[in-house]
Amino acid sequence: MIDQRLLPVREVYRVYSDYREVARAIKDMVIRGAPAIGVAAAMGIALGVRTLKREELRREFDKICRTFAATRPTAVNLFWAIERMRRVYARNDTRDVETLRLMLEREARTIHEEDIAANRALGAYGAALIEDGSTILTHCNAGALATAGYGTALGVMRAAVEADKRISVYCSETRPYLQGARLTAWELKKEHIPATLVTDNMVGHMMKEGLIDCVIVGTDRTAANGDVANKIGTYTVAVLAHRHGIPFYVAAPTSSIDLGCPRGDKIPIEERGSREVTHIFDRQIAPSGIRVANPAFDVTPHDLVTAIVTERGIARPPYNKSLARVVRGETPKREAAARPRSSAKRQSKKG
Ligand code: MRU
Repeated sequence: MIDQRLLPVREVYRVYSDYREVARAIKDMVIRGAPAIGVAAAMGIALGVRTLKREELRREFDKICRTFAATRPTAVNLFWAIERMRRVYARNDTRDVETLRLMLEREARTIHEEDIAANRALGAYGAALIEDGSTILTHCNAGALATAGYGTALGVMRAAVEADKRISVYCSETRPYLQGARLTAWELKKEHIPATLVTDNMVGHMMKEGLIDCVIVGTDRTAANGDVANKIGTYTVAVLAHRHGIPFYVAAPTSSIDLGCPRGDKIPIEERGSREVTHIFDRQIAPSGIRVANPAFDVTPHDLVTAIVTERGIARPPYNKSLARVVRGETPKREAAARPRSSAKRQSKKG
């Protein structure tokens, strides 16, 4: 995996051979972003069982799963992926150990592939909401880095570009961990999507000046009623969007939707270390000993959310009904996905 702590300055790839290293990589933010964490955990579990004999596997499997479950609390994709691995184990634990290990590896690879496919489908639905010429604001990083590839919120932008829409993007820096400045800005530059970086406290001004047409963010966990947990600062952006009559869209693969969680106030919010707030990289910016709060996520109430875009269609309020329908696979009819321009046209444009 690419070490996201070092971006955008250095592109370093890490290779792990022990599941504990993968769990540590999730905890330490080498890899982050809800869907990416889920995929990494599934891969880590498959790695953890790779050399185990039958009795060892029986003894260790639960411990391996619990090690991953203890890494980060907010993103539901982590628990969703662990649950999928547990189910494969439970259904097949009477098989010979080699087959069981292979089945776990296959499930991890499937989770990886399905995530990319989900992002592409979600992107096509979301792109239909984007008018040609729009300027979009996004917060944090919900791009290829945060997923198995393509991205959720950034996937919508990629799909809009593939559908020939001219878009430009504002990305907010996302204090304190700077996912917007370090990661989203890096991805957008690589994609040649026109992008402007702003600090978080500039967003209200940009909206007031009429510079933002819509907001698209990702989510770490969306409750059954449509309350959306996402990176700290998302709630502020949603309130501002509401104040200025700007649509606020959430890109949520169904792996991020937790129908077992009725409301946002039931979502566990990760509290991270004080150093992320008192320091920027190694430089101290606050007095030693100052008390610090560092909630890594906040919850945007469902009434501030214009629509939730999934890989199975677009959910609109009331979310209690629409999200349940979408998760069941009953695709809402009225909003069609954007069609990417044909590859022939793309070729001729390039050439
Ligand atoms: O703490 P992080 O960087 O893992 O938080 C990531 C976010 O909040 C993303 O916006 C969210 O996971 C959606 S990613 C598709």
